[in-house]
Amino acid sequence: MLAAVVKVLATRRYPGPAFDELADVEVLPLGELREPRGDVEGLIVANEPVPLDLLPGLRVVANFGVGYDRIDVAALTARAVVVTNTPGVLADATADLAFALILATRRQVVEGDRFVRSGRWSGSWSEGGLAEELTGSTLGIVGLGRIGSAVARRARGFELRVLYTQRRPVTTDLGGYRELDALLSESDIVSIHAPLTAETHGLIDARRLALLRDGACLVNTARGEILDEEALVAELVSGRIRAGLDVFAHEPDVPRELLDLPNVVLTPHIGSATRQTREAMTRLVVDNLLAVERGEPALTPV
Ligand code: 8YV
Repeated sequence: MLAAVVKVLATRRYPGPAFDELADVEVLPLGELREPRGDVEGLIVANEPVPLDLLPGLRVVANFGVGYDRIDVAALTARAVVVTNTPGVLADATADLAFALILATRRQVVEGDRFVRSGRWSGSWSEGGLAEELTGSTLGIVGLGRIGSAVARRARGFELRVLYTQRRPVTTDLGGYRELDALLSESDIVSIHAPLTAETHGLIDARRLALLRDGACLVNTARGEILDEEALVAELVSGRIRAGLDVFAHEPDVPRELLDLPNVVLTPHIGSATRQTREAMTRLVVDNLLAVERGEPALTPV
């Protein structure tokens, strides 16, 4: 069995058998790291800021996740620390959750569930009104990377018309390219799959939210900060649009105003949270650490 002999610090026990291939691993939340630890060469984090000053011997940071917006890659690279992430292995699970939120939001699944449980069902579902059908609707995908593409492929089965936007149009049969503003105003459903960067921070601001059609459904399984959360809350409170949100700007805090709204479905950042995907993420994290230990290039450097 391969065994990493470098001293690895992991901010928690990551799921799956691959974790046990690390021969010298210590589980320690970063908040509990107070003294410098010169012995630590490898670090496993879940998109957490790396305290470089406390870890002067660091050679590799393996991020458990595809998004690494909280990791200062430039500072780590300047100190010759390799940074890796887990692209690809979580695309299907995240696309599934985006679709779950699209369906739940569009077909009032959660609202209906609450209605049944409340005991108020006395023959007909009149309270919620009629939902909007998926078939024939237009889905706008913001960011046609691995996850966005997996969403577009699923959309075919639901007979949706697919549009996408990203920095540049690509040659693809997955959907038609639109500038972001046009995509927002032309779509019945908008699903966000862009990484959080300086460019995408606050990308969908109040002006752009106002471009959404009345009754449009907005789904976010990427990062809360891509949207102006305050403006989003205002749109949702007005009841003009619907939303399915798995991510928030200040997790685990969720804007209080959303909690009682019937037009919002909320999940706790579970896009990649299936057993198969989380185990595959750990596998990739460990394989990256082992590659660096052997002096080989990392498998998935950022
Ligand atoms: C988290 C994610 O990393 O991959 C990402 O970017 O946001 C998730 O997969 C995961 O929930 C662990 O915190």
